[in-house]
Amino acid sequence: MLTVALPKGRIAKETLEIFEIIFGEGFKFDDRKLILETPNFRFLLVRNQDVATYVHRQAADIGVVGLDTLEEQGLDVIRLLDLKRGICKVSIGMRKGEKLDFDKPEIKVATKMVNITKRYFEERAVSVDIIKLYGSIELAPLIGLADMIVDVVETGATMKQNGLEVVEDIMTSSTYLIANKNSYIAKKDKILDIYEKINEIIKAEQKDS
Ligand code: PRP
Repeated sequence: MLTVALPKGRIAKETLEIFEIIFGEGFKFDDRKLILETPNFRFLLVRNQDVATYVHRQAADIGVVGLDTLEEQGLDVIRLLDLKRGICKVSIGMRKGEKLDFDKPEIKVATKMVNITKRYFEERAVSVDIIKLYGSIELAPLIGLADMIVDVVETGATMKQNGLEVVEDIMTSSTYLIANKNSYIAKKDKILDIYEKINEIIKAEQKDS
């Protein structure tokens, strides 16, 4: 039995579709249910930011989560496979026409990704005042709460519609299959079997595109 933590929403749906292709059976959560039990798997529906916690503490053996979230949280889990889905960037955004000026004193940066932001500016020896927000990050520079934001950009529509633009990309992210370190030893055959089957699907998709 493998326990699989999936983030609610699109990624869970896409991952279950991959499992359906591999095992030729339907995997569907009943309305509002958070656990799906099947003979070989137990799927858990959790918040995106909680996937790595479930896996790290071995409440789940494996999970699926964005690289951006893994980098932000820094939990010690095995990154097994890039699923080449959910591709997005973590970028610095500013009001249109404004330029990055690292010499400016008192740079204020609004973000929900405090650790990624901290690391980025520390590596450049730039001291910044990081303002932690939980959402609607694009609002901060518009009303003078911050000079810039560090946020996830997928289509770029949210920044554009709020008069912001990307001035620099920090990282590219996509969803990863992750595993608990102990599970990876104790259930190695099962986990590697899943890994190989998913990898075949991903590789076939890459070839087609
Ligand atoms: C993210 C991010 C942006 C938006 C970017 O928020 O914070 O607001 O998506 O997407 P776009 O480039 O396609 O416009 P998300 O929808 O994940 O919600 P969140 O605020 O809960 O993270």
